[in-house]
Amino acid sequence: MAALVDLIETPTIPVSQPVPVVPRTSSALGIDIGGSGIKGAVVDVRRGEYASDFLQIPTPSPSTPRNVAEVVAQIAERLSAELGDGPVGVTIPAIVRHGVTCSAANIDSSWIDAPAQQTFQLALGREVTLVNDADAAGVAEVTYGAARNASGMVIVTTLGTGIGSALIHDGVLIPNTELGHLELDGLDAEVLAAASARARENLSFEAYVPRLQRYFGALDFLFSPDLIVVGGGVSEHSEKFLPQLRLNCPVVPAALQNSAGIIGAARMAGVATASTLGHRWAP
Ligand code: BGC
Repeated sequence: MAALVDLIETPTIPVSQPVPVVPRTSSALGIDIGGSGIKGAVVDVRRGEYASDFLQIPTPSPSTPRNVAEVVAQIAERLSAELGDGPVGVTIPAIVRHGVTCSAANIDSSWIDAPAQQTFQLALGREVTLVNDADAAGVAEVTYGAARNASGMVIVTTLGTGIGSALIHDGVLIPNTELGHLELDGLDAEVLAAASARARENLSFEAYVPRLQRYFGALDFLFSPDLIVVGGGVSEHSEKFLPQLRLNCPVVPAALQNSAGIIGAARMAGVATASTLGHRWAP
């Protein structure tokens, strides 16, 4: 009779491959897709600095995956001399699961369930690493910017049209957290506290601070972060609102501002692995 242990099906446990923590290349192309512009530059991924001209092309309308991919291909073509056969990283303001974009909060609805990574790869004729825009900004800030060398739990948020979030624990990104869509007092948090809410409702910083306190207070309570980094255009005026926030951890402005998406995308492409759980990078 078979031993009981032989009858119990052994679950297949995915064995993770060792993840390289140093870039496999010195330069990579980073492209950041936004609502109004598509920006790109070749990045020196060891230093986190641009290694080519910075290019920006208006986002096409309608901003479907195919139209956007054509613009991304133009940028790659124009920077091909500096890029050589280096890798390409692209950001998108959407959930990205295994190369498929699964949401479209502030972009064309045709991105929902689109095989976007494949569309980019076909348009560029080369491998593309596709990542959420806030995840890229978070990786850039932790690798080269305001959270450089930070350990423990770091939350990087971008306050813009929406709220983007990157959750990084001891150097490991937990991708696609979408903490801009936490429900607060019956509202989607980004409706309450994104920079676009301040503009739409013509709020002074004095009126905006309680909303930020509500939002960051909720993040503080839920995740017990060791550091919060606040990026997005509004962080240029961080002295008008960050010192007023009462949290259990330091909260600092982002250091890389507009270049964080490009630099983070390039970095993630430079260290890309088959890992679908997260991305590591060298501290
Ligand atoms: C989207 C996120 C994105 C953020 C910042 C949100 O509305 O859901 O995927 O990271 O905006 O662009």
